[in-house]
Formats: sequence, C-alpha cells, structure tokens
Amino acid sequence: MSGTVPPVVELRGVGREYGGVTALRDATLTIGRGELVAVVGPSGSGKSTLLNLMGTLDRPTSGVVRIDGHDVGGLSDRRLAALRARTIGFVFQQFHLAAGVPVLDSVADGLLYGGTPRARRRALAEEALRRVGLGHRLRHRPHELSGGEKQRCAIARAVLGDPSGASGPGGPRLLLADEPTGALDSASGRTVMGLLRDLHAAGTTVVVITHDQDIAASLPRQVRLRDGRIADDSAGGGAR
Ligand SMILES: Nc1ncnc2c1ncn2[C@@H]1O[C@H](COP(=O)(O)OP(=O)(O)OP(=O)(O)O)[C@@H](O)[C@H]1O
Ligand SMILES: [Mg+2]
Repeated sequence: MSGTVPPVVELRGVGREYGGVTALRDATLTIGRGELVAVVGPSGSGKSTLLNLMGTLDRPTSGVVRIDGHDVGGLSDRRLAALRARTIGFVFQQFHLAAGVPVLDSVADGLLYGGTPRARRRALAEEALRRVGLGHRLRHRPHELSGGEKQRCAIARAVLGDPSGASGPGGPRLLLADEPTGALDSASGRTVMGLLRDLHAAGTTVVVITHDQDIAASLPRQVRLRDGRIADDSAGGGAR
C-alpha cells in the first residue's frame, strides 16, 4: 500500500455487541483501494454486522473503524452521513422498490439526501440504469420487472455515487453488497456479479457477502467469519 493513500476500509480490534449478544469481536481488517473481497461464513457469524460497520450504518462498541482515512468514531452523525453519501454505495438482498413507482424515479430518489435538483437526479438515474442494462425499462413499475432486473435497479441506485461527479463515472469508491445474488437464479446471479466485476474493473472497491462457494472462490480475496470472529483472510492480514 503506498504511504499517502489511506486504505478504503481499516478496522482495528472492532467489536459490536447488541445487548448481551456479541455479533462481532476483535475484527482487524484492511481493504485497499480497488480490491474485490468476498465475505463468507455461516448464518449468524457476523457478516452483515461487519458490512454495516464498513458502511458506517452502525458504530462499533469497541475498536476503531476508518473509512477512506476518516475515523468514524470521531465524526458527528451529520459528517458521517456526508462521508457515506460521498463514498459508499449499498446493495441489499431485499431492495424494496416502492409499489407503482416507475424505476427511474425510485433510483433517482437515491440522491434526495444530497439535495441534487430533480432533473439532474433523473439524468443520473437514467445513466445508471443504462449502465446496468435497463435503459429499456425506465418507466416500468416494480411488478413489471423480474427479480434479476429489480436487483440491477438496486445496483443502479448504489452506483449513482457522488452527485457532484467527484467520484467519477465509476460510481462510489466503496460498494458493499449483502447477498446480492441470494434470491436470484444462477443466470441472473451471473449478470449481477458481472456488474459488480465491471464496477471493480472501473476502480471501485467492492465487498460482497455471499453464501455461494463458487462465487466466493472466483473472487481475488476471501474473508471468512465464524462466531463473530475473522477466522480466515486469504490476504493473510486479518486472522487472529
Ligand atoms: N440488532 C440486533 N440485536 C441483537 N442481536 C443481533 C442484532 N443484529 C444481529 N444480531 C445477532 O448478531 C449475530 C450476527 O448477526 P449478522 O446479521 O451479522 O449475521 P450474518 O452472518 O449476516 O447472518 P446471515 O447469513 O443469516 O445473514 C447473530 O447472532 C444475530 O442474531
Ligand atoms: Mg446477514
């Protein structure tokens, strides 16, 4: 890693407890710019907890989380939300598109937070939907789309990225995907993984949770969780 560019994700001794439940303990992990990482492990092992911490949707109960060089613990909620909007895109397994609303509008709403004018939001949403191969489905409503197409909408929304364009046409710097292919047949799953690989090739750092051993094995790095611990990291840096 070059000295001046901070890693996109840096976790040092990170733990997350919910009441009496320890969902994650002593996680130390560094993900550099441009990596493509699979997170694997049994149900309940802490994968989503880890992803939510990387995505600054949650704060650790112990340890330090740095995203793009910023110590999350030292940021106010408002500054954290700004960092998230500028840097991070999410793809969740269940992407809820509002019933009856054309997908162009649903995707464009992903930029509401940043105060981007409506016409600009729609132009960016159209561009993102074209990028995921849905340029011919802009006016479709959710019930008129297949499961794979809905998941591609989720990716389009995640890659809208920085409305100022500072993060470039490749979308956000860090894309986090929680089981993006879990609900899809294998052909749709391949399409979605192909999109994530394209984003990675364009320079985005991608972290993807998957139960699919073949998908995990096909990615350059695997981080394995067990009982809330990083049990194995094929890059060698995180196992304890
Ligand atoms: N908000 C919460 N309150 C209490 N316990 C929680 C909470 N969120 C997660 N947990 C617990 O923390 C552990 C890790 O949960 P997490 O969602 O990270 O698992 P996971 O690896 O993503 O599992 P899955 O593959 O089933 O999605 C689980 O035992 C879960 O029950
Ligand atoms: Mg999960």
